[in-house]
Amino acid sequence: MKTGGFTGSKSSDRTHGVQKMQIQTQRLVLRPIGMQDLETTYAYSADKDNTKYMAFLPNESIDETKEFLERCESEWHKTAPCFYEFAVVADGNHIGGIGVYLFGSKSTAELGWILDKNYHGKGYATEAAGAVIGFAESKLSIRHFVAHCDWENRASQNVMSKLGFFCIGCASGRKNRGSSEERKEMTFELYV
Ligand SMILES: CC(C)(COP(=O)(O)OP(=O)(O)OC[C@H]1O[C@@H](n2cnc3c(N)ncnc32)[C@H](O)[C@@H]1OP(=O)(O)O)[C@@H](O)C(=O)NCCC(=O)NCCS
Repeated sequence: MKTGGFTGSKSSDRTHGVQKMQIQTQRLVLRPIGMQDLETTYAYSADKDNTKYMAFLPNESIDETKEFLERCESEWHKTAPCFYEFAVVADGNHIGGIGVYLFGSKSTAELGWILDKNYHGKGYATEAAGAVIGFAESKLSIRHFVAHCDWENRASQNVMSKLGFFCIGCASGRKNRGSSEERKEMTFELYV
């Protein structure tokens, strides 16, 4: 698993650390997502096709995206964030988002990812997620990761299996935001 190189800090000078915080992988830069990413985040978060398997998307207005980014920025500035949402950047372009959300115990975290559809199928999600897992393990001492997805979301399932996640269940009762249909949801986990 590629864990990437980290620069920046979440433990010394907070603001300075957040501004400089970034993870470098072979092809990507992962950095705190924020308001400078509004247009690009809205483009992939409001796209109905891109979000058809997502429980909390599509965004219905740019204001909703703005609110999300404001929450992300404010979380990045906390001393002990409950979640870390990264912008995925390739060749200087913001192409997606990947987040790690800590559970109350702080030893388990949930991962979530989305890329702009123009950048699917290039291995970027696997590369980004591997690096975020490395960050969460080494900087946050997370040893247990979980992830959920719609049972027909093959792309997401493949990312998880490439990262070493195992499926631990599939249950009905999921609702994706873009549809009223009841769906099945798969749960995956990974111990590092
Ligand atoms: C899920 C998502 C992030 C995957 O991103 P990606 O960068 O295209 O994924 P990768 O290129 O790293 O692909 C990983 C594996 O899945 C396979 N894969 C990618 N898209 C696929 C698809 N639509 N169907 C089947 N397999 C797919 C790839 O071929 C690759 O396997 P391989 O290396 O053996 O070829 C992307 O499809 C996406 O943003 N989807 C919309 C949002 C979404 O559904 N997010 C997840 C919510 S749970």
